[in-house]
Amino acid sequence: MPSLAEREGALLCDTYRRLPITLVSGEGCWVQAEDGRRLLDLVGGIAVNVLGHCHPEVVEAAGRQLRRLMHTSNLYHTGEPVELAARLVRSAFPGRVFLCNSGAEANEAAIKIARKWGQLHRGGAHTIVTLEGAFHGRTLGTLAATGNPHYSAPFQPLPNGFLQVPRGDLGAVEAALRDRSRPVVAVMAEPIQGESGVHPLGDQYLRGLRELCDRHEALLILDEVQSGMARTGSWWAHQPAGAVPDVMTAAKGLGGGLPLGAVLVAGRADVLEAGDHGSTFGGNPVACAAGSAVFEVIGRDRLWERAATVGDQLREGILGLAQRGLPVSEVRGRGLLLGVGLDRPIAPLVVQEALAQGVLLNAIGDRTIRLAPPLVISDDEVELAVARLAGALERAGTAS
Ligand SMILES: Cc1ncc(COP(=O)(O)O)c(C=O)c1O
Repeated sequence: MPSLAEREGALLCDTYRRLPITLVSGEGCWVQAEDGRRLLDLVGGIAVNVLGHCHPEVVEAAGRQLRRLMHTSNLYHTGEPVELAARLVRSAFPGRVFLCNSGAEANEAAIKIARKWGQLHRGGAHTIVTLEGAFHGRTLGTLAATGNPHYSAPFQPLPNGFLQVPRGDLGAVEAALRDRSRPVVAVMAEPIQGESGVHPLGDQYLRGLRELCDRHEALLILDEVQSGMARTGSWWAHQPAGAVPDVMTAAKGLGGGLPLGAVLVAGRADVLEAGDHGSTFGGNPVACAAGSAVFEVIGRDRLWERAATVGDQLREGILGLAQRGLPVSEVRGRGLLLGVGLDRPIAPLVVQEALAQGVLLNAIGDRTIRLAPPLVISDDEVELAVARLAGALERAGTAS
């Protein structure tokens, strides 16, 4: 009898490097493996499981909707997408919403909005400025926005019309906006870059982007796919800066574990008309019902406050490990989106050792461990997480 990994190798395209563990169920911050192990999940499905695994209120809302109406397409009216959009708007800024199924799809829509806006209002300007270290998705358009050959080299040619500038350098953005040979229609950025290793752009920088976009008549697109949904101490990571975007994209935590993406478009950029864009599953009632339940629980339990407090506790705990001589050099990020910088290239080894200690971690490159646990993680679970991380760092440090 072939193992699951062997059957997977025969049947699924080889696009992922999976850890040698099979997960079968989950509850709160814990997942259960087929071999009986229980693991503390500090990855949260890569910043998706904001309320943990199988949160009863999300399961109840999705289950109720599953039994009532699973799918209709967008040929008809249904209430669930409207309810979700109302909650999304209330959490962020006034505007209207396009619903889809993933982060890449949301960003693809944002790019199309910027291009149409450029045709209507900027004489056909279409260049979009993005930042080095960005990650906006895996479709051809979002790969072009991501601008990292590591992800895009085998898939050339990519759509043109993207220009990448160094992260953190407002002067470089301004120079791009001033360049009339390549008129810029939008600047697109993640308030906290996730996939590059958790790098916050900083509030002052975000305000700078807003001012530059205003001054040069460009749209500001903020990709909150990873940083949003209360994870960083506010509903959306840009909010402490007070720099409101024209277009904001969301996904990951939005559906609490079901596929759901969204683009929130302020009035100024609201250019899409019937027939311009669409998605068969976009606004799926089950995903939207789950999403509304996620908004309800986060809002009711003020989980952004919890993310901030418990995130500080986790950060302090990890910085304490550095003082004990473990190979931690810094902790980046905000709230419960943290990047633990290591002083030597052992991140994949730390992840393996952590698995043996009963905790799920995620490595970005070989010097960063990303932590994006559920926002409902308890104080005791944070303490346990730090203790197990210490064990993993110790063993990986010794083995290296
Ligand atoms: C900031 C950001 N944008 C977009 C994406 C793409 O989202 P998805 O994988 O749902 O297409 C990701 C995924 O990691 C992301 O972190």
